[in-house]
Amino acid sequence: MAAVDAGWTVIGVDNLEAKVVQINSGSSPVEDISDAQLQAAISKGMYKATTDFSAVSQASVITICVPTPLNEKSEPDITLLRGAVTGIAPFVANETLVVSESTSYPGTLRDVIIPIVASLKPKDSFTTYFASAPERVDPGNAIWNQKNTPRLVGPINVDSREPVLAFYQSICDSVVLVSTPEVAEAAKLLENTFRLVNIALINEFTQLSFASGINVHEVIAAASSKPYGFMPFRPGVGVGGHCIPVDPLYLTWWGRENGIIPELIESAAAINNAMPKYVADRALSLIDARIKNPRVLILGVAYKPGVGDVRETPSSSLRVHLQSRGAQVAWNDPLVPIWEGTRPVELDWDCDVAILATSQAGINLESLIARGIRILDCTNSNAGRKGISSL
Ligand SMILES: NC(=O)c1ccc[n+]([C@@H]2O[C@H](COP(=O)([O-])OP(=O)(O)OC[C@H]3O[C@@H](n4cnc5c(N)ncnc54)[C@H](O)[C@@H]3O)[C@@H](O)[C@H]2O)c1
Repeated sequence: MAAVDAGWTVIGVDNLEAKVVQINSGSSPVEDISDAQLQAAISKGMYKATTDFSAVSQASVITICVPTPLNEKSEPDITLLRGAVTGIAPFVANETLVVSESTSYPGTLRDVIIPIVASLKPKDSFTTYFASAPERVDPGNAIWNQKNTPRLVGPINVDSREPVLAFYQSICDSVVLVSTPEVAEAAKLLENTFRLVNIALINEFTQLSFASGINVHEVIAAASSKPYGFMPFRPGVGVGGHCIPVDPLYLTWWGRENGIIPELIESAAAINNAMPKYVADRALSLIDARIKNPRVLILGVAYKPGVGDVRETPSSSLRVHLQSRGAQVAWNDPLVPIWEGTRPVELDWDCDVAILATSQAGINLESLIARGIRILDCTNSNAGRKGISSL
């Protein structure tokens, strides 16, 4: 839609038929894009979706933005990326710019994407421009979007520089040119690893503070008064979504491939992964110990406020830990209709304790407080309110 806004005609190619049908019917699958915005683009003939990969033959710019998850060994799984590149390669026209926006380890453009395209194209009198420009999107962020978030671009060679700058300068206010695709790919991993490590630090610090009777939120506020050299992060149930828990593991895998053991990052990931258990313990400690099978209500199961995305949500692990302690667990999230095959309950569900895991608009705590239900707030959004304990 950012490209449409900049005057480009855009074709979205996706291998999921149902998504293509949904989009072409004018129903947006992305929270930050309204149906009205999508419908306007479709009716002006500036956007359509298709499952037909041959449509890329009409494109002068191809951006690849397929998921890059982890496999069962928590290592990079770039099967979807390889599949997408193999799908487009036969149809890439001469002098087309191919950009990788998917998050991946340094070298993915050079060592994976380019060889696949090159193997399916004539060797002579055919030019393809390549660059890496990692996606920087924060779903639900009302301030920072595709247009006003500076965009990193790492062209593969001098010839690719002008096409990639021209494309992103047409849709973004600011474009930052870096010397190689590997720098852009590594920068993306550094950005998200920075968050993972700092979140882990504050999660660990929270446990230290609580154990010694110090209010961690007051400490964070106090440290934040320093005008330089400190940036506040907040504790929570853990990390979720398909970026912060995933991307740093692309970095650790890449480090180990290069003979470096990234101890700090792996330790940070372990600390965050242990938070759901800590939260379960804290919540259950609020309940009368004589209750053998406590009823626990999780409020907000999406991985962050303002979205209905439950991918990698730490509430999954939280629920498992609560259940392993004999608790009956139910949940409510105004933006999530179904989660791991279960449906939400109403806020008047009879419970012994509630855990505010994600601060979603529309979760009214008043009725729970009025019923005398203890609430463990993991979102730092109710400091000082009676009946609510902060993490
Ligand atoms: N969404 C974000 O907030 C965000 C932010 C920064 C970076 N990223 C990165 O962007 C990339 C995409 O993330 P996303 O959240 O948009 O993914 P997503 O899960 O929404 O998937 C995007 C689309 O790709 C389609 N797809 C999967 N395999 C395909 C294939 N082989 N050919 C064609 N289409 C295919 C899926 O059906 C889906 O519609 C990832 O590398 C992610 O790390 C995402």
